Amino acid sequence: VIKVKTDHSIAKVQPNMWGVFFEDINFGADGGIYAELIKNRSFEFAKPLMGWTIQRKKQQEGEILVVNRKEVNTANPRYLQVKKQTDDFELVNEGFKGIGVKKGLRYDFSLMYRQSTPGVKLVLLLKDANNKIIGQGSLTPDQTGSDWKKQSASFTATETDPKAKFSILFQGNGNIDLDMISLFPGDTWKNRPQGLRADMVQLLADMKPGFVRFPGGCIVEGTDLANRYQWKKTIGPIENRQLIINRWNTEFANRSAPDYYQSFGLGFFEYFQLAEDIGSDALPILNCGMACQFNSAEVASLDELDPYVQDALDLIEFANGDVTTKWGKMRADLGHPKPFNLKMMGVGNENWGPQYLERLAIFTKAIKAKYPDFKLINSSGTDPEGDRFNLLNTTLRSNNADFIDEHYYRSADWFLKNAGRYDNYPRNGSKVFVGEYAVHADNSIVGSNRNNWQSALASASLMTGLERNADVVQMASYAPLFANIDAWQWAPDMIWVDNLKSYGTPDYYVQKQFSMNKGTDVVAITLDEKNIIGQDGLYASAVTDQAKKELIIKISNNSDQSQNIDFDLEGKIKLKNKATNEEIANNNLKQVNSFENPEAVSPKKSTINLKGKKLNIALKPYSFNVIKIPFN
Ligand code: AHR
Repeated sequence: VIKVKTDHSIAKVQPNMWGVFFEDINFGADGGIYAELIKNRSFEFAKPLMGWTIQRKKQQEGEILVVNRKEVNTANPRYLQVKKQTDDFELVNEGFKGIGVKKGLRYDFSLMYRQSTPGVKLVLLLKDANNKIIGQGSLTPDQTGSDWKKQSASFTATETDPKAKFSILFQGNGNIDLDMISLFPGDTWKNRPQGLRADMVQLLADMKPGFVRFPGGCIVEGTDLANRYQWKKTIGPIENRQLIINRWNTEFANRSAPDYYQSFGLGFFEYFQLAEDIGSDALPILNCGMACQFNSAEVASLDELDPYVQDALDLIEFANGDVTTKWGKMRADLGHPKPFNLKMMGVGNENWGPQYLERLAIFTKAIKAKYPDFKLINSSGTDPEGDRFNLLNTTLRSNNADFIDEHYYRSADWFLKNAGRYDNYPRNGSKVFVGEYAVHADNSIVGSNRNNWQSALASASLMTGLERNADVVQMASYAPLFANIDAWQWAPDMIWVDNLKSYGTPDYYVQKQFSMNKGTDVVAITLDEKNIIGQDGLYASAVTDQAKKELIIKISNNSDQSQNIDFDLEGKIKLKNKATNEEIANNNLKQVNSFENPEAVSPKKSTINLKGKKLNIALKPYSFNVIKIPFN
């Protein structure tokens, strides 16, 4: 018999406990949630015409020239000079692994241009693989002068095609300079111009995540310091956001030429806005003056650290300052006069060693001096059992770190064995943020496998241990979040997308179940007076939600047998006699979800009757169950 002490809270659950980790990996941002359809829109990739091809009726020299003006415009050096003579020619963009086009949907084209006299007309064409036109519009640049102008035009697609291309057919005569050639679908999230892919945001919104951690991950660090993430370069007009090569280009992928860049169209303002839209706390992670220690290990010397620390201080002002402050005014000018109410940030991602501790101390001193209540997340690296991790953890604890960020990518077996990991942690002092975790087959860091039911069930089992220890483990996020089916560097991932569709893996449903049923108070659930951490393959935790008036039991059955379980629901609260069970079950641990069958592994709801304070339920083999019992 499993006992639940329904009326005795043993810990509070933080409202932001279960969050999401966002990084531009696997085409998560560019080519993913940032809905721009044009690859290399401002010709800044290593090869300026990467993603573009020119199709002429007749070969002519000098029609197109890429001009580099880096001396006068470091953020956006290149543009295209088109010298149009007689023959029509086309400039074709392949998109990010093709362009997803939906029949009947509006497409919004825009560009920047400069011309001394009008004369060129742009015919805008969406084409399928056979060059059939599946959408057509036009734009005649009508302004002249030496300044850059912006102009836009919209048109509607006539067919659906996940792998279309976009072409600009130049007609007429004259010379024109072009930059920031852009195409967005008309159905972005909240219909924001040049915004985010609505289906991908919706999957996040449906989880009601407690926080959005951004922008990573390793891209915070960069392979070297020049390619680290610098938030100030990601806000304001998109044409001024300087692209950098994405560090996930070459790592783990066999690419001959880099074609994965960070355009920062999804920049820090948009991240804050996204978090606000879906009711989550924003949780930025900043570079601590160290590049990725697995790559160049470049470190800013202590006398070079000021700008890094200043970025952190300014970010707090950007998020929370009123409009009389420099950065608060900047936020207001960008369209958000109200503060974003930022409460915490991370200093460093997977950094370690004396160099990290030295830099962290400088950040901490400066930030706490100005914002004493602001919480800081400290990194503790990637090896949850190694000496380096333990040493760093001990030092961070003795330094009274607010939060220690633990990452683990480990086997299903490791997850099951570690479901009791926090049961004996010190209850006072530093809190734990499990900032990245996922089940990887055979402990491999980057698997080739998609998340299957085995990985999700093992995660669910470990997560009961996080929930049971919610006084210590106050936040957690699965990682990575998104992957494009045609362009990924890292697997498993929580959500898979193609150019038009997206689906949640079994891990998505497990994460959503925890986040949507987080409760407010942890209550004890035991078998023979012991925490349930693997007896007969069972793992369990329980919470009450004092606002919704529900007792919520989470229990996984990792055995291949059905198990008939009796619960004794002890305590004074008056339980109603009808409960529900949202069960995710599959006899095949290798079962995955897919575009064809996106909900193969997903919760199914049933009703169960209580007898007084007793509940009996048959847990299916390989199942994760969220049992909800309302009370008065
Ligand atoms: O989630 C993928 C990567 O794993 C992150 O960028 C990094 O922090 C970790 O090593």
